[in-house]
Amino acid sequence: MVSLAPMEGLTTVYYRRALARWFGGVDKYFTPFLTPTQDHRFTKRELREVLPEQNDGLPTVPQLLTRNAQDFLWAAGELAAMGYREVNLNLGCPSGTVVAKGKGSGFLAHPEELDAFLEEIFSKAPCAISIKTRIGLKDPAEFPALLTMFRKYPLAELIVHPRVRTDMYKNTPKWDCFGDALEGSPFPVCYNGDIYTPDDADRLRSAFPAADRLMLGRGLAGDPALARRLKGGPSASRTELSCFVDQVYESYAQAFGSRRNAMLRMKEVWFYLIRLFLEGDKLSKAIKKARDPLDYESAVRSVFADLELSPVLRPDW
Ligand SMILES: Cc1cc2nc3c(=O)[nH]c(=O)nc-3n(C[C@H](O)[C@H](O)[C@H](O)COP(=O)(O)O)c2cc1C
Repeated sequence: MVSLAPMEGLTTVYYRRALARWFGGVDKYFTPFLTPTQDHRFTKRELREVLPEQNDGLPTVPQLLTRNAQDFLWAAGELAAMGYREVNLNLGCPSGTVVAKGKGSGFLAHPEELDAFLEEIFSKAPCAISIKTRIGLKDPAEFPALLTMFRKYPLAELIVHPRVRTDMYKNTPKWDCFGDALEGSPFPVCYNGDIYTPDDADRLRSAFPAADRLMLGRGLAGDPALARRLKGGPSASRTELSCFVDQVYESYAQAFGSRRNAMLRMKEVWFYLIRLFLEGDKLSKAIKKARDPLDYESAVRSVFADLELSPVLRPDW
């Protein structure tokens, strides 16, 4: 089973729909985090992410970022009423402002409070709850106690990104911590981190034959056909990539009523996607620097007209 990782600013509803239409291979789509607050109202942007009619019937799991059980339960209730069967708790976000508020991976540093929070949400939520976690705030030695805590609750799934908060997205994921989670957990465990090619996935599965759930983030953003390829399907064609990019751009332009704002979003898409092309540096800069949608559109036309597709994704982010 392959999931799309939540990526704030990238894997929006428009991105997810285009990904599903042109490439497929993804079994479960996670939304970037929503942050339920005390006023118990979703923002317009958050509603756009979760309204069922926007999600084209795709198997979608909304992700929540909060340390307040009442706010979590309010949001879970609203989402269950919309038809969602599962919501995901973010215990991984490493951003300074989030961690300072004790949310995301910052929550991992408050085990007693986290335990009380889990007790509350698992006893009262009207839908299943999965958790996406790092292996600690500063030290992987924090993970065994966290795992013992998680195992007290009926998680729908535990997604492990085996880095600590201070790694951010650098350093090598600690596969042995993922292995510890996989072994002996009473719930399904999903691996997330640095899977860029089918070979990477094969290596993981050789090390852990029971690892049958993968969540893909930057690898899928860099190669939108990666999930399909993991299931034996073909690599992305130039036409598919072009249709995909067009669909995301046009749906942003329509949603925002502004090609300029759409262009700003597309810069994030291209930050990852350009690595799938050979010698893309010059055009990557042109896309990054574009101030006018016409400049952006012209740079994108040149990518598809002038650049060869790379046989392998070359991540250097
Ligand atoms: C730009 C960006 C935005 C992200 N946003 C979220 C998010 O909203 N929620 C979350 O749980 N993780 C978020 N992540 C983390 C990813 O879901 C994923 O755990 C991480 O990128 C490692 O997986 P990968 O190596 O496959 O990319 C984000 C990562 C990046 C790079």
